[in-house]
Amino acid sequence: MSEADSTSDEAAPSSRFIVVLAIIAALGGLLFGYDTGVISGALLFLRGQFHLGPTMQGAVTGIVLAGALIGAITSGPVADHLGRRVTLIFAAILFIVGAVITAFALSIVWIFVGRFVVGYAIGIASYTSPLFISESSPPKVRGALVSTNQLAITIGILVAYGVDFAFAPSEGWRWMFGLAVIPGVLLGVGMLFLPDSPRSLINRGKVAEAREVLKRMQGRTEEEQKIEEIQQTLAMEKPDWRELLRPNLRPALMVGIGLAVFQQFVGINTVIYYAPTIFQYAGFSSASVAILATVGVGAVNVLFTIVAMILLDRVGRRPLLMVGIVGMVIALAVLGYGFLLPASERGWIAIGCLMLYVACFAFSLGPIFWLMIAEIYPLRLRGRAMSIATTFNWSSNLLVAFTFPLMIAAVHETFTFWIFAALGIAALVFSYARVPETKGRTLEEIERGWFLRGA
Ligand code: BGC
Repeated sequence: MSEADSTSDEAAPSSRFIVVLAIIAALGGLLFGYDTGVISGALLFLRGQFHLGPTMQGAVTGIVLAGALIGAITSGPVADHLGRRVTLIFAAILFIVGAVITAFALSIVWIFVGRFVVGYAIGIASYTSPLFISESSPPKVRGALVSTNQLAITIGILVAYGVDFAFAPSEGWRWMFGLAVIPGVLLGVGMLFLPDSPRSLINRGKVAEAREVLKRMQGRTEEEQKIEEIQQTLAMEKPDWRELLRPNLRPALMVGIGLAVFQQFVGINTVIYYAPTIFQYAGFSSASVAILATVGVGAVNVLFTIVAMILLDRVGRRPLLMVGIVGMVIALAVLGYGFLLPASERGWIAIGCLMLYVACFAFSLGPIFWLMIAEIYPLRLRGRAMSIATTFNWSSNLLVAFTFPLMIAAVHETFTFWIFAALGIAALVFSYARVPETKGRTLEEIERGWFLRGA
């Protein structure tokens, strides 16, 4: 019998426990969204106070992404050896320290130091939160629970836009950065009260503790069977990360890396980081209208992530992924075309296209990349494999963020968006050919699937 059967009619206390667990871990996602979103508004004031030219402005924005990249590369073995819980507590401490350093910075050097530390924490939390939730969830609702993290990312971005807006009149950039201490403390304290995931405990030989946690989560006494299943699957694995390069697991590695790169190469963060600028290019010269439209984009992002959470465990990952990417390609193609029209005619086309684009991202590539990498890797290597995919995600993010303004200058908006549309078509072909359906399967079934397929 699979875990799916045993958890279909969960007793209320255990479902409540898992929902609380997902919400606490998703604070990592909230900080990810907040800390990447907050810079757009804060930058306006840092620019004046520290006399920053364009290169330095780019560097202040980019330092978080660089920190995230290094955080993701270096933390995989920590997540596997010390467990997901300790890793998330460590990230929470870094989030708090980074926010305090930035809020009290007396010179631009301290801004760089603080933002790097925050970036490092984002790099760790960006995959450890979905990993922890995935390993603690029953398969029937795993899509929705893991996507709580993506929902938190989108809420974090929206709150950051709101905080920027609220503190703009007083030029309160210190508050903009400093407020991140609150979710940082909640994440750290919340994780202190939660147990590590049962799979992470078993991986580290703590079977008795895992049994207790499974009892609490499943609301029934099927933990023995579950523990045995996890242990059997563990026995099939060698704890060497080079296993990921062998024929059995290479396809899994490629799915993670491919989705990581395409999630960024379709250009999502040109919209998240530069939306007001795009609206201004598109003909809305008033800054306040451009900012309002940006808040609208943030709200659509949140709303359609909720749609994803409702649908992921019903219709499955693959259909949502395909439909979403098709929608994004259409929106990008029309947006590019819109820039060929006179400024007076293209404003509404731009708003419509960006809304459609963000909505489609929010129910497809946004949540599904993070969900999929939390599901498809073997337990022993899960932390390391996720850290590799996450590293590709942050490097692609950095590449697009830096090249976007250069692309616009070199080939104009139209071709820039058409290039993103072409990359979207490549993402569609890749997803159709390579991405497996994981709906309703236990992590152990998914894992055995790679070995059976390669056998
Ligand atoms: C991506 C981020 C992006 C966010 C937007 C996440 O899944 O990894 O790069 O900013 O979605 O909602």
